[in-house]
Amino acid sequence: MLRFKRTQEKGVDFLRSITELFDDWAGTYDEEIDDIGGPLTGYRHSIKKAYKNYPEAAGNVLDIGIGTGNFIAEYIKDAKNVYGVDISPKMLEEAKKKFPSIKVETGDFNNIPFESDYFDLITSSFSFHEVSLSKREDALKEVSRLLKQGGTLNLLDIGFNNKSDMDDAKEKYREEWDDSEQYPFEYELRQYAEDAGLTVDKIDYPSALHINLIARKR
Ligand SMILES: C[S@@+](CC[C@H](N)C(=O)[O-])C[C@H]1O[C@@H](n2cnc3c(N)ncnc32)[C@H](O)[C@@H]1O
Repeated sequence: MLRFKRTQEKGVDFLRSITELFDDWAGTYDEEIDDIGGPLTGYRHSIKKAYKNYPEAAGNVLDIGIGTGNFIAEYIKDAKNVYGVDISPKMLEEAKKKFPSIKVETGDFNNIPFESDYFDLITSSFSFHEVSLSKREDALKEVSRLLKQGGTLNLLDIGFNNKSDMDDAKEKYREEWDDSEQYPFEYELRQYAEDAGLTVDKIDYPSALHINLIARKR
């Protein structure tokens, strides 16, 4: 079942509507996420798989769209400093309750309040598709700005190799599909990454619904 429908009404500020949506969900997110179904089916499995695809965390690590911290949780024991950014202050409160050592800041994928060339690793799970299409290229440029040379991006999201794969998934999860969302395709992620100065090391599909991009700053 769909948890929320995105607000697409004319005149409603997009980022504000996303913030409200996740602020409302924050308190029950962890209880609900495993049963939400639809394109988030297999959420935990894909997080584990994305971690296995790049299990190295040293130095400064940032998760963008951290939510309640379920992806960064995998890296906390090995990182020196762990930071989290999210557009939703309530999500950040939940992350902080679970992982008090994380330093959190509200911020948008396109405007992240940290200095350049600071992070060894940037992670992000199931958040990139929340960025509007016209801002996705710039969002990866922002990631590139923040990474040290040779630093890594581990990005997990709902995403597909091609339209036919997406249509198959949409058919399978028809009742639970959210047509207001636009999930990225592999060729788009590759293009954004390359244009942002990131070299793609690996693309993996932890499930038929999810894509995992590992890329390194040149
Ligand atoms: C589906 S949740 C995923 C949360 C967490 N990463 C996880 O895997 O459970 C999407 C998260 O992205 C955040 N978000 C949405 N749009 C964002 C943006 N433009 N910049 C930063 N965070 C954003 C939401 O507030 C929410 O916490």
